[in-house]
Amino acid sequence: MPMPARRQAAEIPFGGTPSETLPVPPFPVETPCFVILEDAVLHNLRQTAKGAGGIERLMPHVKTHRAPWLIEAMVAEGVRAFKTATAAEVEIAAAAGAPYVVWAYPTVNAMAIARVVRVACAHPNVRIDALVDSVEGLRAWQTELSVASAPNLRLRLDLDPGLGRTGVAIGPGAYDLALAMQDAGLFGGWHAYDGHIQNPDRQVRIQLVSELADRLRGFLATARDRGLEGDLIAAGSYSFDLWPSELVRWVSPGSWTYSSSQHDVDLADVGWRIGGYVLATVLSVREGTATLDAGSKAISPDIPLTDRFRGPGPIRLMKEEHVVITTDRLKIGQQVPLIPRHGCTAAYLYNRALVRLRDGRWEYRAQLGASRSGYAPEERLG
Ligand SMILES: Cc1ncc(COP(=O)(O)O)c(C=O)c1O
Repeated sequence: MPMPARRQAAEIPFGGTPSETLPVPPFPVETPCFVILEDAVLHNLRQTAKGAGGIERLMPHVKTHRAPWLIEAMVAEGVRAFKTATAAEVEIAAAAGAPYVVWAYPTVNAMAIARVVRVACAHPNVRIDALVDSVEGLRAWQTELSVASAPNLRLRLDLDPGLGRTGVAIGPGAYDLALAMQDAGLFGGWHAYDGHIQNPDRQVRIQLVSELADRLRGFLATARDRGLEGDLIAAGSYSFDLWPSELVRWVSPGSWTYSSSQHDVDLADVGWRIGGYVLATVLSVREGTATLDAGSKAISPDIPLTDRFRGPGPIRLMKEEHVVITTDRLKIGQQVPLIPRHGCTAAYLYNRALVRLRDGRWEYRAQLGASRSGYAPEERLG
């Protein structure tokens, strides 16, 4: 239900750079609440597309927002491809009109694979790619695809460019698995996520990406000689504007969507704005501190406690539902925006967000939040 803005949103001065302001909704809001500024997200999309060399090269990651309406908005802006981390995200991306969805998670879990195969069958016009980094993974896909035909589904070989999380080493051993995928009629290309390259110094990042690019260029040249044709997906928010387009067809940053208190500092040159934040209410004040209603269950719990957000003062203590901040500037009842250090794990904690639309209206919009089952119906087992 659209909500009328009864009066102009109060733009309050806020932490960080002196000129930075974030709007507090001009009507009563239950907190903690995740707030999204549509104009800032679209601004960030344009900046990211510019850095990537064109929107047709962008493959934004859905895990940051898990919001079907944002996928639709990005498709309307010209985005053609999306990356996802879970089966539920594959479902919402395909249903929201994404023409191409990559499930960037090389699982061997038969149930999750069967679920993504079902998405591919239900959306024959959506191209769906998934990752493999082991013979076991390939077998698991072959098993599921032997009972359900999905010609729109392909597998990419996940390469480990140094993050040390998933993916096979960039080297001769990778060709055998890729050739086995090709023999199965399923090989669709390559994927390499360089999430370990997060140095705040752009020159250092340029150097690291360029070394990696040389290795991958040699690797892919040999792959082509061996009959393996396929493009490469790489990059996150720290490197999407550094990879040469002749080598990397798709760049897949995600956390640019809302930016963060860390991007603000490390990646200030990209020109992103804060597009998502947590609104909290001051519950209690005492000599030099204020207690707000945004604890570990409300904002970026994967970040070390004292760095979880940038707010009106340093974080002194955080419990599940409370945070204590060092400040003497807040009043009981005041509502305060907190800028997450990690937007993805802040947005994830909310299954709806309060959105300030481009035209200035405010509206609550659904998002997947922490749901893994997605919007799926109840199911009886056994
Ligand atoms: C496989 C993969 N691709 C892309 C991204 C997006 O990177 P970033 O969060 O730097 O935007 C991530 C983030 O964790 C990821 O795991």
